[in-house]
Amino acid sequence: MKSIWSRYSTTENYHGLKKDITADVAIIGGGITGISTGLLLAKLGMKVVVLESEKIGGAASSASTGNLYFTIDQILSSLLSKYDIETVKKVANSRIEALKKIKSWVKDHNLDCDYKEVPWFLYSDETKWLDKIDKEFQVGVKAGLPYLMADKSEIPFPHKSGIKLPHQNQINPMLYVQELARAAKENNCFIHEDSHVQSIHQNNDRFTLELENAKVETDYVVHATHTPKGIKMVQTVLGPYREYGIACTLHSKNIEDGIYWGYHEGGKKFSTRTYSKNGDDYLIVVGEPHKTGQASDNKQHIKNLERFAKKHFDIKTVEFRWGGQHYRPADLLPYIGPAKKDSKEFIATGYSTDGLVYGTLAGMIISDQIRGHKNKWADLYSSTRHHPFKSAPKFIEENVNVAKQYMNDYGNSSPDATNFIIEDVQSGEGQVVHLGGEKLAVYRRSDDKLEIVSAVCTHMKCIVHWNNAEKSWDCPCHGSRFKTDGSVIEGPALKPLKKSKIESEKKLR
Ligand code: FES
Repeated sequence: MKSIWSRYSTTENYHGLKKDITADVAIIGGGITGISTGLLLAKLGMKVVVLESEKIGGAASSASTGNLYFTIDQILSSLLSKYDIETVKKVANSRIEALKKIKSWVKDHNLDCDYKEVPWFLYSDETKWLDKIDKEFQVGVKAGLPYLMADKSEIPFPHKSGIKLPHQNQINPMLYVQELARAAKENNCFIHEDSHVQSIHQNNDRFTLELENAKVETDYVVHATHTPKGIKMVQTVLGPYREYGIACTLHSKNIEDGIYWGYHEGGKKFSTRTYSKNGDDYLIVVGEPHKTGQASDNKQHIKNLERFAKKHFDIKTVEFRWGGQHYRPADLLPYIGPAKKDSKEFIATGYSTDGLVYGTLAGMIISDQIRGHKNKWADLYSSTRHHPFKSAPKFIEENVNVAKQYMNDYGNSSPDATNFIIEDVQSGEGQVVHLGGEKLAVYRRSDDKLEIVSAVCTHMKCIVHWNNAEKSWDCPCHGSRFKTDGSVIEGPALKPLKKSKIESEKKLR
């Protein structure tokens, strides 16, 4: 379960932080948001440290499609259900500005990241989606975007209607972030991998970040972790989703380079693109979103992508399969800026699947705010905005969903001591069991040994669920994810799943 981008990433490594340091700004997370912010602040001469728990560009950035576009995942016309056309224009213009920033960085820092210009398409074969496409065209044009009707021959899928945005871009997103990190380092930004922040304390105006082997004292903290770490109000207006990607080799490349978004049968949206490297031609398909920790069979979602790819193209092999996480905001716009009014702790979240552009924009907004400059997009994406009417339905839906997870999981739905048969946990599989007053997350490794940890999420105590495709424990409430040994992969949880008192198979029997 690794994305195609991991094959073509750089070998540059950054050592883990092992000694106490001080900084002006500590950035948690080395993805597109963290590195963009780090580069901009380091260029101003600030002492900036980026703390990445795993590899630079290896988390959300590496799970993305690498598509860069003016519009948004939910399409611009959806914004009109909550905002006026002037706001839609601002959203489009802010994204255009972020795309220009990416283009200038690629040129100025000579970023070797397979940056190219391609058209974007939106199409459908389903009559009921045609109005939606038509509306998107009208709204996009009103917002000043250069939408065109697509020529029938330009879209390699059966369709009744299609529109187009010329001059959009594609990158290898992992390479882009890694190359940007190189540029940040050249500008004296301190970057550390394998540096997991375990807690954050505030003392007057300073913060202390505790890692396993070091502490960082800093004036400012930036949560560039896709969703902020710890318990934050903003988590009540975010829905965590997982989505999947596949990359296939083709017998023959019979698709032009482009970004293809299609509404297919059952309203399913698939995003398709090409990628060519070292003589290999790939087709990448991304789709099948569901609430994190709430799929009954994660593997089936990947099979659905494979079926889609095989139906439309001459696939040789499916070489890569992966999952990625995104957070959907209740009022359709990301939350970027200080966590609270006048706070020196900053957040950037709710990008939906538009994180490459919004992550860059977040870097531009937050770096301006930290240096005391007004950013013209800051109010639009303010992290402290409260739109009771705009976010109400989704806010209620998300929180009812979280409450439901508590109710389900704290009932007796998982096996208990009387009916739990340990042999039922197959090699490579996991199961939540209720034993001795504890909810346990039990995983059987390929060497037949069991890994047993508490199933209680360390964020706000929901019960984690097994993800059978990615072999992880996923929390259905706010999207924290854990490895089978309990360590944190992503999400708001800071601490690993607790070791269980029942740590051996013998005691489980
Ligand atoms: Fe919030 Fe698990 S992520 S309770």
